[in-house]
Amino acid sequence: MKSFGRVEFETAAEAIRRQMHYAPRVGIVLGSGIGNIADRVENADIIPYAQIPHWPCSTVIGHQGQLHIGKMEGQEVIVMRGRAHYYEGYPMSQVTLPIRVMQLLGVDIIILTNAAGGINPILHPTDLMLITDHIGLIGMTGANPLYGPNDDTLGPRFLDLSNVYDPALRSMALESAREAGVPLHQGVYICLSGPSFETPAEVRFLRLIGADAVGMSTVPEAIVARHGGSRVLGISGITNIAIQQEPVSEKTTHEEVLETGELIVPRLEAVLRGVLRALANREY
Ligand code: HPA
Repeated sequence: MKSFGRVEFETAAEAIRRQMHYAPRVGIVLGSGIGNIADRVENADIIPYAQIPHWPCSTVIGHQGQLHIGKMEGQEVIVMRGRAHYYEGYPMSQVTLPIRVMQLLGVDIIILTNAAGGINPILHPTDLMLITDHIGLIGMTGANPLYGPNDDTLGPRFLDLSNVYDPALRSMALESAREAGVPLHQGVYICLSGPSFETPAEVRFLRLIGADAVGMSTVPEAIVARHGGSRVLGISGITNIAIQQEPVSEKTTHEEVLETGELIVPRLEAVLRGVLRALANREY
């Protein structure tokens, strides 16, 4: 499988640089069903993913595939409307290429959002969960984005992951949620490869090993973001309850994930805006 490295990252970054009029330090990745937040970026330079060399284009409905680069709450931001996933067949080095490219463009704070299934029974559809830590089951079983030769100019061979989700950014998100009156749960996100949803037995296993919410993204991006020295904030929007008992009459569907994602948008937007305001008021 082709591996993507500095040459491809630089080529993609240069193509974006030629079309953008900002110098954002904050990158935001919008997951399934929540891409509409990108419409709130003011005076945006909009770049379709298909125009960026090497950029992975999502084949999934609900992931529109555009960069919106502009301003939100006075902060210059680069917003990814949709992302590609490992299950679409891209190598990990390409799934995470956008993170490397944003870093080359000067981004050093990366906000990752996703749609996730709730495992912890306190979580309900439309809830938001601040990611306090993750279980990278996808990487533990072989698909780690840092697999292969290490480019020491990008980051260290053996990366410390004891504090992936930045405590100061997490405090800002909690404060922002409080101010906006938005309940914000906290918990552990587990990443599986997908694309099939989990069996009830698998969900019980995930609960047993300490996961609160499950999804198919975010962890590879968070690892690469940390590898390149960025600070990371992660927020899951709970779109469905991961089913723990069989036999069951309910099913998990992608349509359910997208519909609930849309209900999550206003509250997630409020939390993100508060974080951006806090960042604008602070040296970082
Ligand atoms: N499982 C895995 N990924 C998901 C889910 C789920 O239940 N919901 C949204 N993404």
